[in-house]
Amino acid sequence: GGFRATVLTLYPEMFPGPLGVSLAGKALVDGAWSLETVQIRDFTTDKHRMVDDTPAGGGAGMVMKADVLARAVDHVSGGHVADGRPKLYMTPRGKTLTQARVRELAAGPGAIMLCGRFEGVDERLIEARNFEEISIGDYILSGGETAAIVILDAIVRLLPGVMGNIMSGETESFETGLLEHPHYTKPQEWEGRRIPDVLLSGNHGAIDKWRRSEAEQLTKERRPDLWQAHRASLKK
Ligand code: ADE
Repeated sequence: GGFRATVLTLYPEMFPGPLGVSLAGKALVDGAWSLETVQIRDFTTDKHRMVDDTPAGGGAGMVMKADVLARAVDHVSGGHVADGRPKLYMTPRGKTLTQARVRELAAGPGAIMLCGRFEGVDERLIEARNFEEISIGDYILSGGETAAIVILDAIVRLLPGVMGNIMSGETESFETGLLEHPHYTKPQEWEGRRIPDVLLSGNHGAIDKWRRSEAEQLTKERRPDLWQAHRASLKK
């Protein structure tokens, strides 16, 4: 049962990787989600098992072949019979992943995730198989695999039963639209640094007020973009 992830990759040995331990690993064993990898090279038909070729128009690097990728995709999505799972292509050209999109994906049946290597994949494959292009941030990774791992990590922690009682969700950053306030635990003093007195006061009204104020200050300083969005959302 649960969320079904199918990852198309030239490096299936990169999975589950970090998703095999801790919270995600336990959830995988418990069946809250499943992970299947598909070796793209298995869908070549030539004797050299060629997955890429030189770019049309010339230039550096190699481009992953549309025909090979289509056979791999159609094998897992049942060809033209849609299985209801969105098809995601990880690329720095994509729309940046948001917590809102993560929530939508986690509420769905799963995802088919295509990991590119080299300069990328033939554009016609993206169009013809209706891939959603997703970036995890403004930097360049050597391939889509580590981005897929990041996206799955963000999804899996939201699946029913995975987080247990660790967090309500409502106080988290991006749920309130603010960065999180600082956290502390015992001892009361460490290397001459004290836990703020208000947190030891037992006055929960004052504690909430302090945390809110700290969250707002931090957001203003570090993420003026989030702060503006937060203020706009309060005005509505
Ligand atoms: N592949 C390479 N860089 C990437 C990024 N920033 N996000 C998603 N996929 C990528």
